[in-house]
Amino acid sequence: MSVPLSRIDTILALIDPTLPVWDLCCDRGVIGCAVLDRWPAAHVTFVEKRPAIVEALAAFVARRTERDGRFDVRGEDALRIVLPDAPASFVIAGVGTNLICAFLARLEGRRGDRVVCSTSQSPERFERLTNEGGWRVCERRDVSSRTGRQTVWVMEPVGRASG
Ligand SMILES: C[S@@+](CC[C@H](N)C(=O)[O-])C[C@H]1O[C@@H](n2cnc3c(N)ncnc32)[C@H](O)[C@@H]1O
Repeated sequence: MSVPLSRIDTILALIDPTLPVWDLCCDRGVIGCAVLDRWPAAHVTFVEKRPAIVEALAAFVARRTERDGRFDVRGEDALRIVLPDAPASFVIAGVGTNLICAFLARLEGRRGDRVVCSTSQSPERFERLTNEGGWRVCERRDVSSRTGRQTVWVMEPVGRASG
């Protein structure tokens, strides 16, 4: 019997590490650090709004010299931060559906992004609200984590041509 992937491994399996990765609402940055450690050419922008966390986060990420020069830490609000012009691989995980919906609304009109979301809140509500916001589920995986069941989605704008 195959062992189910952890939440982090599931997220890693769904991102596109060839694009710059944005670990939004990152807390201690475990997702972004896993990206840096798995793909030696990956670049990660960590975004966390709580000042108390941000300083420790920068030191935590910099613990490994192999990560040098491949990351930025931004102490900003994911709903206000200036987004890159070029396509990116956005991860917004471990937060509530309303916050994820507000972030997705910021991506309107962009093309070429990879968008991976995760919440422990109701998957049905997440899918209904994101659909009302113009997004559809591209892939969905249910995972168990330290804090219970979570769902991980790859989302894309409704109407985007696949491929
Ligand atoms: C439960 S942690 C999730 C950490 C990580 N994303 C994960 O899935 O393991 C949620 C973090 O999001 C941060 N956060 C909440 N709203 C935010 C916002 N609008 N912009 C940036 N960070 C935010 C909180 O301060 C907290 O550190």
